[in-house]
Parts: sequence; structure tokens; C-alpha cells
Amino acid sequence: MVGKTCLVTGAAGFIGSHMVDFLLKKKYYVIGIDNLSNGSIKNLSFAKKDKKFKFLKKDFSRVKKNEIPKNIHFIFHYAGIGSVVPSIEKPLKYFQNNALKTIQFLEFLRNNRINFKKFVYAASSSCYGLFSKKTNENTRISIQHPYAYSKYVGEQSCLLWAKIYKLPIISIRIFNAYGIRFKTTGAYGSVIGVFLRQKLSNYPLTISGNGNQKRDYIYISDVVNAFFLGAKSKHVNKIYNLGCGRPNTINKLSKLISNEFQKIPYRKGEPFATHANISKIKKDFNWKPKVSFKEGMKIIVNNIHEWKSAPLWTSKSIKKYTKNWTKYIK
Ligand SMILES: NC(=O)c1ccc[n+]([C@@H]2O[C@H](COP(=O)([O-])OP(=O)(O)OC[C@H]3O[C@@H](n4cnc5c(N)ncnc54)[C@H](O)[C@@H]3O)[C@@H](O)[C@H]2O)c1
Repeated sequence: MVGKTCLVTGAAGFIGSHMVDFLLKKKYYVIGIDNLSNGSIKNLSFAKKDKKFKFLKKDFSRVKKNEIPKNIHFIFHYAGIGSVVPSIEKPLKYFQNNALKTIQFLEFLRNNRINFKKFVYAASSSCYGLFSKKTNENTRISIQHPYAYSKYVGEQSCLLWAKIYKLPIISIRIFNAYGIRFKTTGAYGSVIGVFLRQKLSNYPLTISGNGNQKRDYIYISDVVNAFFLGAKSKHVNKIYNLGCGRPNTINKLSKLISNEFQKIPYRKGEPFATHANISKIKKDFNWKPKVSFKEGMKIIVNNIHEWKSAPLWTSKSIKKYTKNWTKYIK
């Protein structure tokens, strides 16, 4: 591959595939890596038509020196497995995939003297635990489950490698990203996917508690733009929160999808609200979110057929699922 080449791990996933499309539009050559454990090759249908795109179907920790150029422009590390409840059931799998393999990947880059201008790690706001107020990057870390732990160790490893080996790395803690190609794996996955699938089955949306819980939703085009501007910025070895900074209630979300809803009991284990303080990312990257929640949801609802094959969660199955795992929570 000639020209400026970027590497995207987790390329067949939700955010990774949008990042690939974004970079190709900007005329970069892109190498996408994904083992398809959770992503879908369908997410790369635009990219696969582009000659500047190369796909490696493999584990990112097993990339070989001869598969990538010695000089890479930007590396975006999205590969990871990400659900709260399965991580409680299989903590080692999560730690291996999200934390240890990230270290292996950093070592691969370092030992093979792969040059890059920036490595951007996709971290998670789950490291702030149940904190429900406006959250800046210095808010106390409070790990509640193995998923959050694995992502946090992955992030801290990136920053440690940045410090001691002088590598240009930053970490972006994503709050609640949403958009086309985004899917929900469990009843504790994002409620947007749960609601869309319910709407498709004419099943009343299951609002837990009073519905005043808030989530800081950030639309996918704003997410990839922030990652790109972060890669281009001069900043290294720093952490950034990424959200839209204006949380919306679950009641508001449900109204944008359907008028039919039912209330189910409030459940433990999730923050009541997520609210990113985004001053730092706005200032350092000269970035700001452009897509309002109403506009983003309109796009989603117009493409609701995408959620046809998602699992349908009913009040009964949610109750069972919740009971099975809230036993781990005080
Ligand atoms: N979506 C969000 O709101 C959000 C919030 C916080 C953090 N994140 C982080 O951002 C990243 C991307 O999230 P997403 O929503 O696109 O998830 P996703 O599941 O849609 O995409 C992740 C991709 O990584 C791939 N993958 C996993 N392990 C791999 C491995 N060992 N080798 C190669 N490929 C592997 C999966 O097959 C999948 O395609 C994840 O690391 C996630 O933890 C996402």
C-alpha cells in the first residue's frame, strides 16, 4: 500500500467500520483488522468496494510484521469485547482480549519499530462506575465489573507505554455512542437497541423505574470525527472524555421511538445518569458535537429495519436476566 496508511482494529464493528469509511473518504489507505467475533463483514460493504482498503480477518494481537507497512499514519484501536453481564460471567476472557492483547499489540509495534504518528485507544466511560454527576477526566475511577476493568487496564497500559517508550498515544473515553450499525447484545446493552427491536415487534417499550435516568448519547459521525481530530492533534499521553455533554432522559428517548410503553422495576448496577464534561476534548481537538439527539434518532428510526435480527427483550426476559446478574451487586 502506498500513500498515508491508517490501521483500524475492530474494523468490522460499529465504531471501527464508521472510522474506516471516514478515513477512506478522506483518501487514506486503510488496513482494517477484525476477527469477526462480534463484528460483521456487512459493516464493511462500502469499504470493500474501495481499492484503498485491505481487510485482515484475524485477531489483532496476531498481526505479523509483513502484513502492515513499517510507517503507519494513524492507528485506531477499537477491537474489544464489550458487554457488562457476559464480562461478569467470563472475566478472564474479557481481561485477555481487552487488556492483555492490547499490551501484546503495543509490544508488537514497539519490537518491530513500527512508526506511527498517533495511536488512539477507544476507552470506556464505564471506568467512572456509578458516578452520576457531570464527569471530567479527573473524576475518581470506580470499577464495577470486569468489562470496565479490562478496558481501564488496556487504557492505562497504552498510557504507560506512551510514557516509558515515548510513543504518541492518547485515550478517548467514550460515553454512549449510537448510530447506524450499532447493536445491542444484552438487556444491559444500550437501551436504544432494546427499544428499536421492541418497536419492530409492536411490543411496548420497557422503561425501567421512572424513566428519568439520563444517558450522554453521542452520534457516530461526531465520534469518528473526534477520534480523527485527536489523531491529528499535537497532544500525546492524555485522556479525553467523549460525549455530547447534554444527557437525555430515557423518557425522551422512548417518545422519539414509540408512544407505547410499560414501566418495569428500576434495576441496580447502572449509573442513574451519565454526563460527560467535554471541555477538554473541545479545547484540545477544536471539536464539538454537530448532530443533535433529535437528528441522530431520526436517522436511526428511519433505518429501524437494521434491528430486525436483534434479540427481542420482553419484560419477562429482562426480569430473569436482571435477577441472574444483580446477585453480584450490593
Ligand atoms: N459503543 C460505545 O458506546 C462504546 C462506549 C465505550 C467504549 N467503547 C469501546 O469502543 C470499541 C468499539 O466499540 P463498538 O461499539 O464498535 O463495538 P463492536 O463490538 O461493534 O466492535 C468491536 C469489534 O472488535 C472486534 N474484535 C474483538 N476482539 C477482537 C480481537 N481480539 N481481534 C480482532 N478483532 C476483535 C469484534 O469482532 C468487533 O467487530 C470497543 O473497544 C469498546 O469497548 C464503545
